[in-house]
Amino acid sequence: MSKASLVVLISGGGSNLQAIIDAIKNRQLDAEIKAVISNTASAKGLQRAEKANINTCIIDHTRFDSRELFDREMIKLIDPLKPDLLVLAGFMRILSKAFIAHYQHRLINIHPSLLPKYKGLNTHQQAIDDNETKHGASVHYVSEELDSGPVIIQAEVPVLKSDTVETLAERVLQEEHKIYPLAIGLHCDKRLTFKNNQLQLDNKILKQPLLWKKNKLV
Ligand code: GRF
Repeated sequence: MSKASLVVLISGGGSNLQAIIDAIKNRQLDAEIKAVISNTASAKGLQRAEKANINTCIIDHTRFDSRELFDREMIKLIDPLKPDLLVLAGFMRILSKAFIAHYQHRLINIHPSLLPKYKGLNTHQQAIDDNETKHGASVHYVSEELDSGPVIIQAEVPVLKSDTVETLAERVLQEEHKIYPLAIGLHCDKRLTFKNNQLQLDNKILKQPLLWKKNKLV
């Protein structure tokens, strides 16, 4: 069987991209990154990709008159690469309905909260303000509504009394790096499928996301 191909979209530091690169290198993940695409030239993740000899491409959204035109250009860039999975790894653009529909069931995202809690930005601050005792991250297939769509796996971490946004974000990020390659692997191994628009794992409806806690699946 040929390796699953990925295209990764980034806007920033790319630590999740790095976790995917490392998982491939360590043979934890049997996949190949065809390209890393950024909407900004300043994304540090581009350097990570170059260091790993992965093709990079910058497509500056400010050059386009509308979200739809930008997304159409991205599709033109991505489709010839025939990715099995499109991976959003800190890609800070809202995607158009047409883009999401085009990649239905092969577009995933990682979001720093235990969805459906705290969609959008500033998730760590909100968790602290709400005196949450646990927080985390979710990997989900992307559907039209922001930070929605079937969740594959969540990582849970405790919120400590002493936490600042920075310490909490760092604790969550460390877990993101573990669950993103895991979820990508399940997709690449074709263990995740959709039946009547319902997410299945190994041909069984996934009633609840997988849960990663204290460094293992529980
Ligand atoms: C992560 O917190 C991720 O959950 C969110 O954006 C951040 C990306 O970080 N979607 P990095 O660029 O992978 O370091």
